[in-house]
Amino acid sequence: MYKLMLLNEKGGVGKTSLAVHVAAWLAERGYKVMLIDADAQRGGATGYCGYKQAPGVYDWLVRGEVNPVVVENSIYWLLRGNVETSLIADALKRLEGVDVGGRFDLLSDWGVVIIDTGPTPSPLNAELLKAVDGVIIPTEPEFGAFASLGQTWEHCQNAGCDVVGIVPTMTCNTVLHRQNVESLRANFGGVVLPAIARRIAWAEAWQTRRYVWDMGDDMAAGECIEIMKMIEGSIQNG
Ligand SMILES: Nc1ncnc2c1ncn2[C@@H]1O[C@H](COP(=O)(O)OP(=O)(O)OP(=O)(O)O)[C@@H](O)[C@H]1O
Ligand SMILES: [Mg+2]
Repeated sequence: MYKLMLLNEKGGVGKTSLAVHVAAWLAERGYKVMLIDADAQRGGATGYCGYKQAPGVYDWLVRGEVNPVVVENSIYWLLRGNVETSLIADALKRLEGVDVGGRFDLLSDWGVVIIDTGPTPSPLNAELLKAVDGVIIPTEPEFGAFASLGQTWEHCQNAGCDVVGIVPTMTCNTVLHRQNVESLRANFGGVVLPAIARRIAWAEAWQTRRYVWDMGDDMAAGECIEIMKMIEGSIQNG
């Protein structure tokens, strides 16, 4: 099983959008995929997939029960989140002998586990980070986002976790964004994946619970699929 976490300790950078797309992309290619909505604040992945919030992640980590729903338009599984996700870290402290890494053994039927996380640094994110195989960090190429990127990168390094890719997201065709993407490449090298431009297809896909490659925008689809193939390659090698 390969465990991939979408992480950036900044909100609105595209974590949920990418998590859902990676899950759907891999599912459509025959992988058995579990998407985990570990965002206590927003429940983004749960909403994207069209479900009401529920304590799926709490049940898994605290009670050791796996109750996923099946996301039908692409056939992957979803462990839903709700406000109780924020109680998990405290609950785990009270339960002796439960560690987050061990809870992944309950998901051994799945070939790939994708974890969407919330933007606030939390003990839950820290525990998940220790247990996963790789991290994707989406980031806007803007000065205001670089401090969070640096912090997120440092947390990955401290946890000994492999950063599979930094994805510049919502890029615009401006001098500033082009320079900032170059600056990302200068600082982080080959780990910076091709950029995903700001395009309305991403918002439309969410609103209609579809995926960018089905939205009839060839540019948006091409950029998305290029990233999906690179992430799939990393998972195959990982
Ligand atoms: N490439 C893009 N172009 C235009 N809009 C985008 C793009 N990627 C994501 N969006 C939109 O930006 C918003 C934020 O994206 P998303 O929710 O995926 O970010 P997030 O990092 O998960 O946010 P949060 O930290 O709040 O959970 C959403 O409305 C989404 O539809
Ligand atoms: Mg989100």
